[in-house]
Amino acid sequence: MERTFLAIKPDGVQRGLVGEIISRFEAKGFTLVGLKFMQVSRELAEQHYGVHREKPFFAGLVEFITSGPVVAMVWEGDGVIAAARKMIGATNPLNAEPGTIRGDFGVDIGRNIIHGSDAPETATQEVSLWFKDEELVSWQSSLSSWIR
Ligand code: TYD
Repeated sequence: MERTFLAIKPDGVQRGLVGEIISRFEAKGFTLVGLKFMQVSRELAEQHYGVHREKPFFAGLVEFITSGPVVAMVWEGDGVIAAARKMIGATNPLNAEPGTIRGDFGVDIGRNIIHGSDAPETATQEVSLWFKDEELVSWQSSLSSWIR
């Protein structure tokens, strides 16, 4: 089953959007398989954003992501990688459609609330960078058996 890595960034945590964001992925029908509230080290931030190392915004990005706690998550489901990117919206919140997380809650590209893996390869890399195997839980909801 497909998995993706999502992280609610320090601005999302400090603005009180954790519940709202988790609710959206639950309501959509995806399954939470990993969750931790954590302070990101400089080393982890630099690894996670390694592809942007040469970019002018890299230092500020690492500074921001290490500035306060984040909510790191792994979500599972059919098509979850692309669907989560759609639900998150464009990188610049001013270009993100209303109804997306960035479109509904953000205005600043450097404070865009949430990260989501952009492709299957990065999803695999990011899940294993942020989570140990034993921190991920494979499970299925019993909902269908309760209501039948
Ligand atoms: P990127 O991987 O291009 O976007 P996304 O998060 O949508 O996958 O960029 C990573 C983060 O870097 C992005 O979420 C915000 C930050 N960033 C800037 O601060 N300025 C920029 O010009 C870009 C492109 C990104």
